Amino acid sequence: MNREESAIRVDRVVITGGAGFIGSNTAEHYLRAGARVTILDNFSRRGSESNAEWLQQSSPPGRLTIVRADVRSDHDALSRAIDGADVVFHLAAQVAVTTSVTNPREDFEINALGTFNVLEAVRSASSKPIVVYSSTNKVYGKMGDVGVIAREGRYEYEDLPFGAGEQRMLDFYSPYGCSKGCGDQYVVDYARIYGLRTLTFRQSCATTEYNPPSPDLNASGDSG
Ligand SMILES: NC(=O)c1ccc[n+]([C@@H]2O[C@H](COP(=O)([O-])OP(=O)(O)OC[C@H]3O[C@@H](n4cnc5c(N)ncnc54)[C@H](O)[C@@H]3O)[C@@H](O)[C@H]2O)c1
Repeated sequence: MNREESAIRVDRVVITGGAGFIGSNTAEHYLRAGARVTILDNFSRRGSESNAEWLQQSSPPGRLTIVRADVRSDHDALSRAIDGADVVFHLAAQVAVTTSVTNPREDFEINALGTFNVLEAVRSASSKPIVVYSSTNKVYGKMGDVGVIAREGRYEYEDLPFGAGEQRMLDFYSPYGCSKGCGDQYVVDYARIYGLRTLTFRQSCATTEYNPPSPDLNASGDSG
């Protein structure tokens, strides 16, 4: 594929969970690049209101739309926001492993059902947007066979310089791992069955803080 064929038009971006940590930074990136950005969030996360205010203050007039909605139940709001989009970043989630253990139903409904609702909204959207889903390395289980080392202010897998390969066996770990893994597999399958253009990132902890290595990195609660 040459560069022209691989160029993707990103004029209208929708970000579920767009008032969160990764979502607000993603929104800021695309606003700066000149796109029109819609963030859809239920503002359940502490600090999400301030993130949205920051975005509103720093974005050019008319470029940012904020939709207060819940991915579990607000089907119409989801469909309206997504119809016409070029790309949907689906980041809205219950993000803490610890909370998933104490309240697995809520975790399931936000992460598994919420992802399903987003995919259904995308499936019926006339613009057939690309879906980028934030999954988690918890879908690979404890990864006890892989060493983690601290290098230049970040953690890396010792023998996997490019991260875990797609062929690595799935082994959902914790209710959070199961609910995110369920969403992950729906995202993969909607590409196979319905021909949607989807992508899933199985990322590890992204944080602005760097802490010294702990003996059990998988036990970290917030967020995965
Ligand atoms: N940050 C990490 O280390 C990390 C690691 C792996 C995967 N992830 C995934 O990346 C995504 C973003 O993570 P983050 O760190 O920015 O989390 P975050 O908590 O800062 O952002 C999540 C956003 O989703 C919103 N939200 C929660 N429930 C919702 C609902 N029912 N409807 C609509 N909005 C809802 C919250 O208000 C929040 O603004 C999540 O899907 C998470 O599972 C994050």
